[in-house]
Amino acid sequence: MAPLRLLALSTVFLGLYFAFRFELHQTPAIQENFKAPAAALWALYISTPPQDFTDESPEVVVEQGPQEVFTSVTPPSSSSARTPFTRHIVAVGDLHGDIKNAQTVLQFSGVVDEHGNWTGDADFFVQTGDIIDRRGDDTIKLFFWMERLRAQAAATGGVVLSHLGNHEIMNAIVKPHLVSKRYVYPSEINTFGSVAARQKMISTGRIGRAWAQNYTATSRLPMHPHLGPPNTPFPPEDHVHFRRDDDDEDDHSRYYDASQPLSHSALSFVHGGLSPKYSNLAPFPTKINALSSSFLSKLQNRVQPPPHPPHPYPGLPHGTTREEAELYDANGPFWYRGWATDSEEKACVDVDKVLARTGTRRMIMGHTPDFTGIVSRCNGKIIIIDTGISHAYGGALSALSIHYTFTPIGDDEDGEPRWTEREVVSALYVDRQETIIDEERAVVGHFRMA
Ligand SMILES: *[C@@H]1O[C@H](CO)[C@@H](O)[C@H](O)[C@H]1NC(C)=O
Ligand SMILES: *[C@@H]1O[C@H](CO)[C@@H](O)[C@H](O)[C@H]1NC(C)=O
Repeated sequence: MAPLRLLALSTVFLGLYFAFRFELHQTPAIQENFKAPAAALWALYISTPPQDFTDESPEVVVEQGPQEVFTSVTPPSSSSARTPFTRHIVAVGDLHGDIKNAQTVLQFSGVVDEHGNWTGDADFFVQTGDIIDRRGDDTIKLFFWMERLRAQAAATGGVVLSHLGNHEIMNAIVKPHLVSKRYVYPSEINTFGSVAARQKMISTGRIGRAWAQNYTATSRLPMHPHLGPPNTPFPPEDHVHFRRDDDDEDDHSRYYDASQPLSHSALSFVHGGLSPKYSNLAPFPTKINALSSSFLSKLQNRVQPPPHPPHPYPGLPHGTTREEAELYDANGPFWYRGWATDSEEKACVDVDKVLARTGTRRMIMGHTPDFTGIVSRCNGKIIIIDTGISHAYGGALSALSIHYTFTPIGDDEDGEPRWTEREVVSALYVDRQETIIDEERAVVGHFRMA
């Protein structure tokens, strides 16, 4: 190789190397042992070909490259248009009225800056419900902040996904008495002015309207854009593969189609849990969210019951359907605790069934706290992120971070594009980070990349 050419190549690589390093330092990614795969660096190079090299297919043998990874990379032949795709998701569990701790968590996870404004570091911020109640007085501020973040995120192409917890629904059912201390504290009620004002705000007022418009019971969040926007239902309506007659409950294979290797490259989020025995899992998440939406609307639009206690528990509204009642019972998505309490043997068998049916690879939930940290079970298929963030519990301040990358690695023998799909799932804390999952798999095919 001519010395001049070698010099030019090395300079390009060096520049890219530092650009990449800099990029990583800008995001929390580097703090998570996030090793840049060689192919990602390569793809960065080929996606921005320097003028002089455009019609050369460079044989990359860089003896003096900044990192030895370059020496082993074989350049892909036809993938000049293929660039790596990355998606960064941050999820946070139960907040229970504590905006100070919520700000700490969202800040150290890179979702917001020190002013509480959206930074753009995360593509998705997910909150799994239970913002209201329990000795925290910041209910109003937290819900308003979430709407501000939702708008700021949207302005930069980000998304905030909000979920209703059992406490939001409980409050929509019951008008708490001013001296009720079981869930709602008098000081919190005072921030609304009165019991009646509080009830108005969470039914037809600003917070209640936000719940109805911008909160769901559950969501399916694609890691790969090929699956479409969040909450694209699974199974897809036109998918004949899943309609088999030999209805064997335990045979999950029908949900996996070799021609759709990314069909489950998604995550589910819910407050309590998606029970394997819950009857309305599919199509996911549309069925559950439709039930939740009609149920909430009945709660918010009824004549609001008098405070309980001293008045009797008002119960579910007139006209609640059996399916809506089931949605709110102990086996339903707002309350289910089986993923936290079941034995490892049982949970790890059951979880595969739910993942297969919901078109997801992991399910992430709050509701059942572990004050020491985020709980991962069955190799990260079950992740429980309620760590008692509110000072009312004094648990660990935590956030879950998911870095997804989809990197071109040339073509297979038939000339089909090959990719590496990688998920790095980490638990973030004030003073440390732990990698929960770092998984990679090879994928072949053509995919929608936006
Ligand atoms: C950030 O937050 C501050 C304080 O809430 C606000 O005044 C400011 O306009 C925000 N900046 C942006 C860019 O949204
Ligand atoms: C729901 O979110 C959208 C998008 O940010 C916003 O325009 C709208 O005002 C929100 N709805 C409520 C009731 O806050």
